[in-house]
Amino acid sequence: MKKYIIQTYGCQMNEHDSEKISYTLEGAGYTYTDHLEEADFILLNTCIVRENAEHKVLGQLGALKHLKQKKPDLIIAVSGCMMQTGKARDIIRDKYRHVDIIFGTKNIDDLPYILNEYFQTGEPVLAIEEEMDLGEDETHVIRGSKHKAYISIAYGCDNYCSYCIVPYARGREISREPGRIIEEARILAEEGYKEITLLGQNVNSYGKTLRYPIRFPELLEELNKIDGLSRIRFMTSHPKDLSDELIDAMGRLDHVCEHFHLPVQSGSDAILKRMNRKYTRDQYMELVRKLREAVPGIALSTDIIVGFPGETEADFLQTLDLVKQAEFDAGFTFIYSPRPGTPAARMEEQVPKEIVSDRFQRLVDEMYAIYLRKNRARIGTTMEVLVDGTSKTDTAVLTGRTRTHHLVHFPGEPTMIGQLVDVRITGATSFTLEGEQV
Ligand code: 5AD
Ligand code: SF4
Repeated sequence: MKKYIIQTYGCQMNEHDSEKISYTLEGAGYTYTDHLEEADFILLNTCIVRENAEHKVLGQLGALKHLKQKKPDLIIAVSGCMMQTGKARDIIRDKYRHVDIIFGTKNIDDLPYILNEYFQTGEPVLAIEEEMDLGEDETHVIRGSKHKAYISIAYGCDNYCSYCIVPYARGREISREPGRIIEEARILAEEGYKEITLLGQNVNSYGKTLRYPIRFPELLEELNKIDGLSRIRFMTSHPKDLSDELIDAMGRLDHVCEHFHLPVQSGSDAILKRMNRKYTRDQYMELVRKLREAVPGIALSTDIIVGFPGETEADFLQTLDLVKQAEFDAGFTFIYSPRPGTPAARMEEQVPKEIVSDRFQRLVDEMYAIYLRKNRARIGTTMEVLVDGTSKTDTAVLTGRTRTHHLVHFPGEPTMIGQLVDVRITGATSFTLEGEQV
């Protein structure tokens, strides 16, 4: 039996693409392995959003060269955002002769044909499409979980935040037909899935490109009617498109989880403007206020970039101040990474590395302290946990997520994996809650 492995870099969108790719590989007769040395087919599904993601892929491809020398029949493939644009793509295409198959984010449906071509000719195959074709739009996936699932609702991004390469890699925003999404969710519910996460670069603008446009809250409304799906999540949301209608839907629809990931990126109006984010800090804080008012107990998480070109100490202090006011429950903090081809990479006044590292450290210290304070406040409360698996270090401990997306550890049996369990919280760190089943 031939074996395959997919190494996925980057976001949930990529993880879900890997699930789609798995379907085709298994259809072609491969079975999954966790071990690189055992694999006959190795795929790197790449990310381009920051430079270090690209470095990791180039490093891994360097290592794979040796593996291929030992095992000449090994097939090495590279896919994902990094293959859509940029210098690293050209380097891999032109110089990494041990790579057999390269395909882009818009060629996942073409993979059966790409494999055929490779097997018939034995020659390297390159397939990179610029435009997304949703013509067939069938969902064929081998999912990584039996109880929670990703559903793509839109591809691409039209926002052109000045630091971001995604619109160049994933292209213009295009929405899937609501009927397809609802059907996919219904089938998942019938199969016993409890949680779905709707994926798009900016789910809040879902529906604009449809022949019969509908809005994101209307889609949520339909999905909320499906029996058995207890939890509906979505990501990511752009603050500029977060409507009152969506906030209202969040408060009203019982299956929609009390968690909102709302990337702020910076707390300085001057920087937000240069980032082309199209909202001010006051407008952002107003959204935070409305969400907390409409959805009691909601957890808010965010993304923040430190060291955007021209960021002064005063700008940074504005970010720190916003973080304190918003009291985020979780977040991702990134050091700005210039992406060739984006407007920000051409801006002068790139901030020196030492200053950026110092600000980064101050920011995470502040954020982690807030997470800890907020998590401690949950001690004594009871939270519903969807059990994901056992802890990596102790199989007598289960791990799972609350509706608010908090990670919880508690003692229990592996038979509880996939179940919804009420857990009383007994301890907290900045990133995890501990508890016991009630
Ligand atoms: N540098 C650093 N972080 C970035 N992000 C996007 N582009 C860059 C970049 N060039 C971050 C943003 C976004 C998250 C997915 O990645 O915060 O929300
Ligand atoms: Fe990038 Fe901005 Fe689009 Fe997010 S909304 S993918 S940060 S361009």
